[in-house]
Amino acid sequence: MRRPLPSITGRPVVITGAASGIGRSLARRLSRLGAPVALADVDEAGLHETAAPLTGPVLTRVLDVSDAAGVRDFAGEVRGWLTRPLAAVFNNAGVALASTVLNAVPEDDEWLHGINFWGVVNGTRAFLPILAEQDAGVMVNTSSVYGLLGVPYQSAYCASKFAVRGFTDALRQELRGTGVRAVTVYPGGITTNIARNARFRADPEGRGRTKEQLAAEFEAVTMTSPDKAAEVIHRGVDGGRARILIGPDAYLFDALARITPTHYQTVITSLRSRLGGRRKDAR
Ligand SMILES: NC(=O)c1ccc[n+]([C@@H]2O[C@H](COP(=O)([O-])OP(=O)(O)OC[C@H]3O[C@@H](n4cnc5c(N)ncnc54)[C@H](O)[C@@H]3O)[C@@H](O)[C@H]2O)c1
Repeated sequence: MRRPLPSITGRPVVITGAASGIGRSLARRLSRLGAPVALADVDEAGLHETAAPLTGPVLTRVLDVSDAAGVRDFAGEVRGWLTRPLAAVFNNAGVALASTVLNAVPEDDEWLHGINFWGVVNGTRAFLPILAEQDAGVMVNTSSVYGLLGVPYQSAYCASKFAVRGFTDALRQELRGTGVRAVTVYPGGITTNIARNARFRADPEGRGRTKEQLAAEFEAVTMTSPDKAAEVIHRGVDGGRARILIGPDAYLFDALARITPTHYQTVITSLRSRLGGRRKDAR
């Protein structure tokens, strides 16, 4: 018989990448609804900004998620801080970069994989023992729509997010029959700092655009606010979803990856130019 799924609302959670964007919105939403929140990020100032308005219990920790020993220490600290079972761990921290495969700089790719993939693995391995002992709780790992299909100039990012998807899917199968769940989150474009914080050496299309111009172009096509993303993630986890898609673009990309697994880029390019044309007409 399937066990009823307990809501995470009002119960303790861990969130990485909580100094900005989706992680900050999740922290503020869940705290407002009564959850004690343990927040980690490399950005100390941003972390304190996230925590400042919270009125409930908060633990903050400056932490690089690519540092496995540091993440294990954090899990030990959280264990001592908990007064009730841990409801969920959001392995959310992530970074981006833009480059052609031809001009990829290995150290940039390694930096990104260290955070986007190994950060998720480190968080999962450090906190899973707590959830396993409780035989309850949810491991929520953030992939991306770029973990559903490949996109030009995003080879490292796509590879890291496909890896998160594979890792979390495998974990979900291992956890069958236990009280612990594994959830994968696939955000579409969310209006956050991800593109402004990205590593950038040169316009990968050779059109001479600056990082700021590329970030502005990214933000112009995002469809979802970080607060809305946090709401969708929260509702999805409480609703027992194993995969959570965020935004209409995520549903479109998910469908395209299945319907036209090798030609989706043609459809996306044509849709973007039509929508771009309409936006210009509307101005
Ligand atoms: N914004 C989008 O359109 C989008 C789309 C798909 C997936 N995502 C994913 O959502 C997650 C959240 O990103 P966001 O959009 O809120 O971006 P964001 O840049 O606003 O927030 C990411 C946070 O991660 C933190 N971080 C970076 N490196 C870290 C490290 N080594 N250790 C700990 N924290 C670190 C940053 O300081 C920042 O606070 C990421 O995994 C990202 O890949 C975002």
